[in-house]
Amino acid sequence: MSRYDFQIPITFKHRIIFTRNAFAVSNRSLAEVLCEGAGGQAVVFVEENVISVWPSLLDQIQIYFSDLAIEFRGISVFPGGEKAKADDHLVRDVWAAIAVAHIDRHSYVLVIGGGAFLDAVGYAAATAHRGVRLIRFPTTTLSQNDSGVGVKCGINLLGKKNWVGTFAVPFAVINDFQFLQTQEQEICRGGLIEAVKVALILDPVFFNWIEINLLSLSLLEKNSLELCVEQSALLHARHISTGGDPFESGSSRPLDFGHWAAHKLEVMTHHQISHAPAVAIGVALDTLYSARSGMLEISTAEQILRVLDGLQMEIYHPALDWHDRAGARRVLEGLDEFREHLGGELTVLLLTGIGKGVEVHELDEDLLGVCIDELRVRYGSRKLLNS
Ligand SMILES: NC(=O)c1ccc[n+]([C@@H]2O[C@H](COP(=O)([O-])OP(=O)(O)OC[C@H]3O[C@@H](n4cnc5c(N)ncnc54)[C@H](O)[C@@H]3O)[C@@H](O)[C@H]2O)c1
Ligand SMILES: [Zn+2]
Repeated sequence: MSRYDFQIPITFKHRIIFTRNAFAVSNRSLAEVLCEGAGGQAVVFVEENVISVWPSLLDQIQIYFSDLAIEFRGISVFPGGEKAKADDHLVRDVWAAIAVAHIDRHSYVLVIGGGAFLDAVGYAAATAHRGVRLIRFPTTTLSQNDSGVGVKCGINLLGKKNWVGTFAVPFAVINDFQFLQTQEQEICRGGLIEAVKVALILDPVFFNWIEINLLSLSLLEKNSLELCVEQSALLHARHISTGGDPFESGSSRPLDFGHWAAHKLEVMTHHQISHAPAVAIGVALDTLYSARSGMLEISTAEQILRVLDGLQMEIYHPALDWHDRAGARRVLEGLDEFREHLGGELTVLLLTGIGKGVEVHELDEDLLGVCIDELRVRYGSRKLLNS
């Protein structure tokens, strides 16, 4: 027998730019990024809803490219939202457009849209020619403060979230704050949950800042919103680049605090609950569980739930109480699916304090039931108070 173990050293540059009006001719952020790669061609994919609210964007993009040495090979507009990643239809359309435009590995795919659209187009770009250069322009709060600056892409298949996908570091991410302005308020505010999540697991000072700025954040005041998005994006990116496991080869997913229940709720409700509100419920559940299992002070859990309340995030959905024919609570299947997605031992992050996570490998299903009962009651009282 002969055996050789090679080390393959791979490093990636993760370029993240915060700007405004990225396609104004005077804004050189994109031009500079494109120059760095010395590439040849580019194609652009834009989400339909983004074009509806930014109708001049298509012309702006064409004018922007007319000034560059990069050969512009056209723009395609497709519908986005969770349906865009419900199966592989968009991925196939994007592959076809990439092939027609003769995009190669030194060329660029630009994608402009919300998190779901970025995930599907990103997956197509990561697999065409085994990966062409991707420049993301996230257009929602959630995609700017979390998903767009991450290194994952994928689509939902076989009744599971993100079941097909890959890890691929984008060539660059350009967070253009201007896009945030046209989101529906509920979507804009809802996306802040990923900022709350990352503050809870990594940065008590940031959590404190969110508490202090709760009112202006809830009113989506521009300055607070942008500061919050930027800090959250940087915390996510820093964790990915320095946390030691960017491609999640271990069993731990700290950035997915609250996500085991969230992903299951999304799928169980056929995405009637979208990602952000599902994560808010998941964060509330795992916060309460941390407290009821004795790891976290009750007063700290109350403090966290007050922040969710201040951001008008709901902490309960009836799907938490759906049971299967055998009487088992269906959301709990999310634990095993979460484990299976990564492999190895079930690893769920809980809180021992703000900014302090602890990994556990087992959750008590009866206690989870008690926490769900409590969320239902709290949600009911909150509804009564607000009515
Ligand atoms: N890849 C990752 O690491 C990662 C991480 C977190 C979440 N995600 C995924 O991200 C998705 C959620 O992303 P999302 O919250 O952006 O939702 P989304 O992509 O569904 O967008 C929400 C809605 O906003 C619209 N929209 C987008 N930009 C707009 C704009 N500027 N103005 C007006 N409307 C606009 C969209 O058309 C859609 O209707 C989920 O599929 C989730 O699984 C991926
Ligand atoms: Zn998330």
